[in-house]
Amino acid sequence: MSRTIAILTGGGDCPGLNAVIRAVVRSAVLRRGWRVIGIEDGFDGLIGTPRWRELTLASVRGILPRGGTILGTSNRGNPLSYPITENGETRLVDVSDEVVRNFRSLGADTLIAVGGDGTLKIARTLQDKGMPMVGIPKTIDNDLRCTDVTFGYNTAVGVVTEALDRLHTTAESHHRVMVVEVMGRDAGWIALESGLAGSADVILIPEIPFRMEGVYEAIERRRAHGSRFSIVVTAEGAFPVTGQKALQLSAENNLGVERLGGIGQFVADEITRHLDIETRVVVLGHVQRGGTPSPFDRILGSRFGVRAVDLIEQEKYGRMVALRGRSVIDVDISDAVNALNLIDPEGDLVKTAEALGIMFGR
Ligand code: F6P
Repeated sequence: MSRTIAILTGGGDCPGLNAVIRAVVRSAVLRRGWRVIGIEDGFDGLIGTPRWRELTLASVRGILPRGGTILGTSNRGNPLSYPITENGETRLVDVSDEVVRNFRSLGADTLIAVGGDGTLKIARTLQDKGMPMVGIPKTIDNDLRCTDVTFGYNTAVGVVTEALDRLHTTAESHHRVMVVEVMGRDAGWIALESGLAGSADVILIPEIPFRMEGVYEAIERRRAHGSRFSIVVTAEGAFPVTGQKALQLSAENNLGVERLGGIGQFVADEITRHLDIETRVVVLGHVQRGGTPSPFDRILGSRFGVRAVDLIEQEKYGRMVALRGRSVIDVDISDAVNALNLIDPEGDLVKTAEALGIMFGR
């Protein structure tokens, strides 16, 4: 049966999105002779005049090593609560019916939504309004449930690990404390795993509210053992026992999404105030999300893309592809998006880090 399927990428970009797009197109076109269209800029491309393009074998040629997404994305376009500005005033409006209408007008029968919990939640809701869908989990934050890992995360951990290796040599030469702030929103995965791989001395994560005294202790202990420098990795969402998350913008002032940032500076300022040691802050920011995907993310993205097309052929809608052990499986999207995948403070990774002498400031 000849079919037309659509694909969109939503939320923050991450390395491996193009691997997914390429895999979807190749398995739909080469194995089934289906047509694939790409919606531009996430759900934004289905609001107003639809923005989309044909995806042929030629349009996905050479994109496997490319970071970002050839389709564009948006992490502000929730059609269930879409910002419309009139006469200088912005209000949030539900434009989901328009999205479904536009989707149908393109002649596609199913949507592959590639995104984090926000995008997948929206897509699942739109399915109930008549837009059959299959989800593919992506995010550098690795905070989605029901999958062992999301693609994009492995690349981000690699980028941070390389940065930590580089920061070690300059920290050691100048006898400084380097405080490195990394992404991850409310999950500490990037901080924990890159901190382990990059030999951090202190790791601060949102799952373990920290005491500054614990941080001072770690630095002092190292000094007592002859190490005159320290590396502190802090997740952007980490916060002190007595305080709150550091925000650049609150959800109210940023269309419902908090913009995190600033905890690294706070920690560095406190260290400078309490210890006689020179301190610098490095905020790695979007470097963690940009650039070429690691081999792991290229392969995982490709596996997810191929499996999503299989699910459409089997008419298994409302499902999300996932990695469980060494196998790609599919799960009910609602199970994946109802809560975040967070680090267990008493789990194996944290225990391993503590056994290695890494402090969490507890
Ligand atoms: O969710 C991915 C992520 O990179 C987070 O780690 C980070 O907090 C956020 O997106 C940054 O968003 P933006 O690209 O809008 O600055």
